[in-house]
Amino acid sequence: EENEYEKAHLAIIFDRYKDRLTTFPKEKGWISETLYMYHGFWHLSGGVYSIETMMALQESFKAHPTDIYLVTLPKSGTTWMKALMFALVNRTRYKNNCRLTHPLLIFNPHKCLPFIEPEIYRKTPTYVDAHQPRLFATHIPYTLLPQSILDSGCRLVYMCRNPKDVLVSLFHFTNKLRDKSRGIMTFEEAFEMFSNGVMPYGPHWDHVKGYYNANLEHPTRILFLTYENMEKDTMNNVKRLAEFLGCPFTKKEEAEGAVEEIVKICSFKNLKEVNKHGNLRDDVPNHTFFRKGKVGDWSNHLTTEMSYILDQIVKEKFEGLDISF
Ligand code: A3P
Repeated sequence: EENEYEKAHLAIIFDRYKDRLTTFPKEKGWISETLYMYHGFWHLSGGVYSIETMMALQESFKAHPTDIYLVTLPKSGTTWMKALMFALVNRTRYKNNCRLTHPLLIFNPHKCLPFIEPEIYRKTPTYVDAHQPRLFATHIPYTLLPQSILDSGCRLVYMCRNPKDVLVSLFHFTNKLRDKSRGIMTFEEAFEMFSNGVMPYGPHWDHVKGYYNANLEHPTRILFLTYENMEKDTMNNVKRLAEFLGCPFTKKEEAEGAVEEIVKICSFKNLKEVNKHGNLRDDVPNHTFFRKGKVGDWSNHLTTEMSYILDQIVKEKFEGLDISF
């Protein structure tokens, strides 16, 4: 019944924007058939994570000042950050309570910290409503965020990742999930699209730059993290994240190993094990979100020439910015 309700609601939204969509430039998509260009970024179409939903959210989404949003590009560590933010904010709830199993030991992090898109039709209360701050995630570029997120003064955590590793991760994810009728995507094809900026919510560099500049403008409201830095110094970054989320570790907690505990529950190893089976939604198995979890796997995929080309693009796009992966 819930599904039917969602479908009906989405159908109304798709219908509302269908004329506008015909005016946007189009490209062949990775997993989805088509990507649409809107305000300088590529968007999915036709599902709950679509340009149509984004436009509807822009018109009606109401952020609360206490909300906290995780923002990423796909394949930049979203699942990991969802786990960490959820585990940090809710840590006292599951601590020393042996009757409550920690949600991250049974559910996909995507279940614990949802994207904002389903908010457009959600009618039943979920975990999000019951707790403060509300935690949400989104891939929407900074300039396209619903105005109420910007106006409400709420906090944003942005996490980005080396474009070469994003490309490799998206390539594998695509071949696991896209319709068999479209055939296997070659890495050359993936490279071509990615270096032309064509990926959902991309170009990669414009998405990153948008949040980088927003962070310079609003340093206390936006935390800017990289996957690489998070891997290199997980403990200190998790402590920093806890402070930003308004739940810093006490001296006592630190002495008792509370930071290590959270790092462990959110580790690639643990989450991969928990998510070995089952599906997140219809055709998306939980395990597709956990592949290697390593920095630098790009070197096993990109030729020297491909690497050089991307280096040149990134150097030019990130000129003057202090970003290193
Ligand atoms: P790889 O494909 O390079 O392994 P997203 O969550 O944004 O979809 O990103 C998925 C990427 O994050 C995948 O990268 C996945 O393996 C990695 N990942 C998932 N959970 C992780 C964790 N707990 N720690 C580190 N990396 C993780």
